[in-house]
Amino acid sequence: MCGIVGAIARRNVAPILLQGLERLEYRGYDSAGVALVSDGRLSRIVSTGRVAELRERAAAATSELGIAHTRWATHGVPSERNAHPHMSSEHVAVVHNGIIENYEELRVNLTAAGYVFTSDTDTEVIAHLIHSHYARGNGLLAATQAALAELIGAYAIGVVAADQPDLLICARRGSPLLLGIGEGEHFIASDVSALLPVTQRVVYLEEGDVAEISAAGYRLFDTAGNPVIRPVQVSQLNDASVSLNGYRHYMQKEIHEQPEALANTLESVCNSQSLVPGIFGAEAAAAFAEVDGILILACGTSHHAGMVARYWLEEIAGIPCSVEIASEYRYRISVANPRTLIVTISQSGETADTLAALNYAKSLGHQHTLAICNVPESAIIRQSKLRLLTRAGPEIGVASTKAFTTQLAALFLLTLVLAKQCGKLDAAQEQRHLHDLRHLPSAVQAVLKLEPEIAKLAEQFVNKHHALFLGRGLHYPIALEGALKLKEISYIHAEAYPAGELKHGPLALVDKEMPVIAVAPNDALLEKLKSNLQEVKARGGELYVFADANTRFHSGDGFHVMQMPEHAGYLSPILHTIPLQLLAYYVALQKGTDVDKPRNLAKSVTVE
Ligand code: M6R
Repeated sequence: MCGIVGAIARRNVAPILLQGLERLEYRGYDSAGVALVSDGRLSRIVSTGRVAELRERAAAATSELGIAHTRWATHGVPSERNAHPHMSSEHVAVVHNGIIENYEELRVNLTAAGYVFTSDTDTEVIAHLIHSHYARGNGLLAATQAALAELIGAYAIGVVAADQPDLLICARRGSPLLLGIGEGEHFIASDVSALLPVTQRVVYLEEGDVAEISAAGYRLFDTAGNPVIRPVQVSQLNDASVSLNGYRHYMQKEIHEQPEALANTLESVCNSQSLVPGIFGAEAAAAFAEVDGILILACGTSHHAGMVARYWLEEIAGIPCSVEIASEYRYRISVANPRTLIVTISQSGETADTLAALNYAKSLGHQHTLAICNVPESAIIRQSKLRLLTRAGPEIGVASTKAFTTQLAALFLLTLVLAKQCGKLDAAQEQRHLHDLRHLPSAVQAVLKLEPEIAKLAEQFVNKHHALFLGRGLHYPIALEGALKLKEISYIHAEAYPAGELKHGPLALVDKEMPVIAVAPNDALLEKLKSNLQEVKARGGELYVFADANTRFHSGDGFHVMQMPEHAGYLSPILHTIPLQLLAYYVALQKGTDVDKPRNLAKSVTVE
């Protein structure tokens, strides 16, 4: 999704801005640009290619003040004229993440006032609006504040003016933005990873905050315009955590990081002898005691994690649980039960729909909120009362991998803690689960050994146009996740069904051109699944079965069996995810797609 970088210093900031944009590339974008202030002039340089192309175009540029942007198109096609920064009268330049909902109305008014629009974007209205207040004699800070008061929608913005070489203004509402603090220099960014080469000291802007920044210092103001102080934090990220380390793609690296990511996420629990609610925060015990149901809100892969958790929570803890896609829940009239625990799941912690769903739930009277998230400083973490951080480390590949399996581990911990609190988990069961969790990283390591076999298998998918994934029970969401991985990075259309549902429709699609991938754990539904697979075989379907040991599947004509380790009980969905991630990765690799940055997608979806 769109990325912002800005810098003000006593040195040339152009290389800092371009490096920052390169570090935001993983978020997904279709054009990039920079605006630099020097000698009382603003220069705008843009490109619809990669940031590397922008770097070539800006090679000769020098400036001590600038703003830069990677754009993921919402209003207007990807093109140079729609690329940010947007300028007004060659005088004010703006970069913007988010969506301005009343831009059409503002555009009409500004056009009537004589402003000429050169793009199709909603952002250009912000530039003209600020300019219109600036031209009336307001300072750049006051002009920006006045313009923001007229906007409806979400924004994170950076603003510079040609005649203000010592001033950078930024603001946020609904989209993340932070301030980076250097020695006699300051930066802004939508994502801390953009700034790691220059500083780890950051200030996260709160909703409605506006900042006035110079090389020497900064002032922060809240929505009402009152001066505020926000804490300076030292980011836990460092440069090493966002490098490829010899892997070909981030996705491959992140698949292989899963044993360590799981070990880190489970560290505090696995080193102790018993499970305590305190891992979710000091107030967790009291909150959990009041809870009589769970509502999980999330999007995409994180939603699939929630779907697995529903099986665990109802079966092990005996607590009613529902799982909703955040973008649907936020607009649905629902019946709120204040004793329900709202659980949001998000890798980034900035997903606009999940954040809005959380706030909607709060507005309905839900008091108990828990975030399961991979980014400690994120909005979802900050806006939830309870939290459990997945410690997967930065996930750069757009296709979520280690974030998913660590979310599952975190949700399993939630299940066990709630089960214990409800008297549904005796001491022996608790110790057995803890033992299984301690073993989980090495069990995942064992599954990763299937990589060469899966790389070979992927050759059979390269020329396919469709694929069907099947699973049952706890593993139906894993089939959904396998299908999502395949479609997002290989562009092969993939669907997932609970295997028992085949005969109610999708069986009509099965022929020899439709590979059918089955998740086959050695659980209570195995024999049912086998019957479902016979229905596929009888219709000439080509089956690829990921089967636990002792499931008695045998490879044969049209039947390919990939042998998984012994059944891992409740943790089996985590193990069965790994081969599906590898399959998607190798199919995409052989198709030659941009594995880490699939077309049209963004890593962090900060707009609705
Ligand atoms: O950061 P989040 O977990 O909130 O992101 C939610 C989805 O956008 C994300 O999981 C998406 O579906 C991934 N690209 C899937 O691989």
